[in-house]
Amino acid sequence: MEKLIAPSILSADFGRLAEEIRSVEAAGVDWIHIDVMDGHFVPNITLGPMIVEAVNQASSLPLDVHLMIENPDRYIPDFIKAGADLVSVHAETCPHLNRTIDMILTAGCRAGAVLNPATPLESLEWTLEYLDFVLLMSVNPGFGGQSFIPNTLKKIRLLKTMIADCGKSVLIEIDGGVNKTTIKGIADAGADVFVAGSAIFGSENYTKTIQEFRQILGG
Ligand code: DX5
Ligand code: ZN
Repeated sequence: MEKLIAPSILSADFGRLAEEIRSVEAAGVDWIHIDVMDGHFVPNITLGPMIVEAVNQASSLPLDVHLMIENPDRYIPDFIKAGADLVSVHAETCPHLNRTIDMILTAGCRAGAVLNPATPLESLEWTLEYLDFVLLMSVNPGFGGQSFIPNTLKKIRLLKTMIADCGKSVLIEIDGGVNKTTIKGIADAGADVFVAGSAIFGSENYTKTIQEFRQILGG
C-alpha cells in the first residue's frame, strides 16, 4: 500500500501559515494534518474552524483534521463546513463513538478514530469495520516535538492483524515523534500514514526532508 506523508501544521510558523502550507505542498506531501486542541482534553489550545478554512484556501490537498477536544459532536459540522476532508476523533472523548463516526461519514468525509498511547486497541473492536483510518498516538497528545513511545510499534503490528481479520481496508496513521530516525521502524511495523510536525517544519529544507522520508519509505 502507498505510504502517505501528512505534515502537522502545529509546528509551522503561523505568521506565514499560507506560505508554509504552499511550501510543504510543493515539497510533495499527501495530506495536511491539522491539530485541534481545546485546553480540556489536552493541556494546550490551538485552533478552530476559521484556521481550517484559511488552510483550505491555501491548499488543494486533503485536510486531515485531528480533533483533540471534548464533545467533538458539537463541533464536527463546523470543521467539515470549513473544509475538513478527513476527521478523526479520540475514542476517549466519544461515549457514542459509533454515532460520531456515522456523523462524519454521512457528511461525506473520511472518518478516523484516535487512540492515546495508553488506550487499548480493543476499544475499537466493534468500530473498526466502519472506519477509514485509525490514528495511533505515539506520544501523549498536546504538544509537538516529543519523543516516539517505542511500544507503539507492537501496537501497530497488533492493529494490522485486527484490520486483516475485519476484512476492510483501514489505514493506520501514526502521530508523534515521527522523524528520519523513527520512520523506518514505524513503516516496517505496518503504518500507512506518517504525521510529522517538528521533523518537517523544524527542518531547513522541507523538500529535502520530504525526499529523505520518501527514500526511507522506499519510493
Ligand atoms: C500531538 C499532535 C501531533 C504533533 C506531532 O498532540 O497530535 O500531530 O503535532 O508533532 P511532532 O511530529 O513534532 O511529534
Ligand atoms: Zn495530530
